[in-house]
Amino acid sequence: MFELHKTADSTKARLGTLTTDHGKIETPIFMPVGTLGTVKAVKQDELLEKVKAQIILGNTYHLYLRPGCDIIESAGGLHSFIEWDQPILTDSGGYQIFSLSDNRELSEEGAEFQSHIDGSKHMFTPENVVDIQRTLGSDIMMILDECPPYPCSYEYSKESMELTHRWEKRGRDAFLNTEPKYGHQQFQFGIVQGGTFEDLRIESAKYITDLDFEGIAIGGLSVGEPTDLMYEMTDLNTDYLPEEKPRYLMGVGKPANLLHAIARGVDMFDCVLPTRNARNGQIFTQNGYINIRNAKWKNHHKPLDPNFPTDICSKYKMSYIHHLFRNNELLGLQLSSLHNLTFYLWLMEEVKERIAEDTFHDWYKEKAEILDTKI
Ligand code: GUN
Repeated sequence: MFELHKTADSTKARLGTLTTDHGKIETPIFMPVGTLGTVKAVKQDELLEKVKAQIILGNTYHLYLRPGCDIIESAGGLHSFIEWDQPILTDSGGYQIFSLSDNRELSEEGAEFQSHIDGSKHMFTPENVVDIQRTLGSDIMMILDECPPYPCSYEYSKESMELTHRWEKRGRDAFLNTEPKYGHQQFQFGIVQGGTFEDLRIESAKYITDLDFEGIAIGGLSVGEPTDLMYEMTDLNTDYLPEEKPRYLMGVGKPANLLHAIARGVDMFDCVLPTRNARNGQIFTQNGYINIRNAKWKNHHKPLDPNFPTDICSKYKMSYIHHLFRNNELLGLQLSSLHNLTFYLWLMEEVKERIAEDTFHDWYKEKAEILDTKI
């Protein structure tokens, strides 16, 4: 399913193609997050035609709780339910149980949790998250894991990683012993854990590699650790992952983080940051980011960046966008979300061009610094 076309000379940056029955994904790629089957404030046709998204993310935890698997199954699966005929990746719910549910208890069997919606009790096991994701029909499903917090003791990180490994083995077996439901192929990605401990990260990368998933995610990062430590762990992990499988860094990040992780050999990313921050007025540009709510834009009657092809950049006056945000107008949220995602996917195109022409190495650090600057 993954073809590696090139690895850069002086960094670990790669070019590849991931082929699913719903379409091809050219890596490195950013995947917009559509937790509940919607990328917040952005329509599916805009995602396809304007953002040029090649794959979006959904969440098992949320979709299982609401609307529920029976509704999605009777609608013909998640692609049909949400009218998105392109690739979808679903996270397993492991991470969301820890970040959202009120009460959760881990056992060898799985994770018991209370719904954040109505307090009802549920259990996710390595096997039933495979079944649920079979019912959702995502092109890529994730394995059930535990994502420990940061900071976290060595002992806890080790025990948690070992539990995740046992779950991953069971989840892989469940995947190999079940069939897709809607006539298209599904793939399963494993997740490397190990906290911020080098020996655990190496052990986990080796263990997960041996289970022969179609792709491998690096989990447990971007949970509050210093950015340099996140890069260090990523760099270490990719050294121990097979060349021929796609690598996915979960929950990352800012534009600059993406560039640094790509240089360390990562192919895929997802994060709520571009859409969540858009709704708070943070807008990314080629020259750094702005906060449109800031009073300095109140009287700025010019577009933000006439050279960038989104409405928020080249069509409207910044004073108008500022006004929309100051009044909590929905159009402000729509324009900024659409813009930030278009920006992220544009950035991936820039990256691919530079890897192809061997200029990525000379470009990415300086670019990352510029993108991380507030204007
Ligand atoms: N999203 C961000 N980080 C993680 C992780 O460690 N595990 C899972 N399942 N999802 C994530």
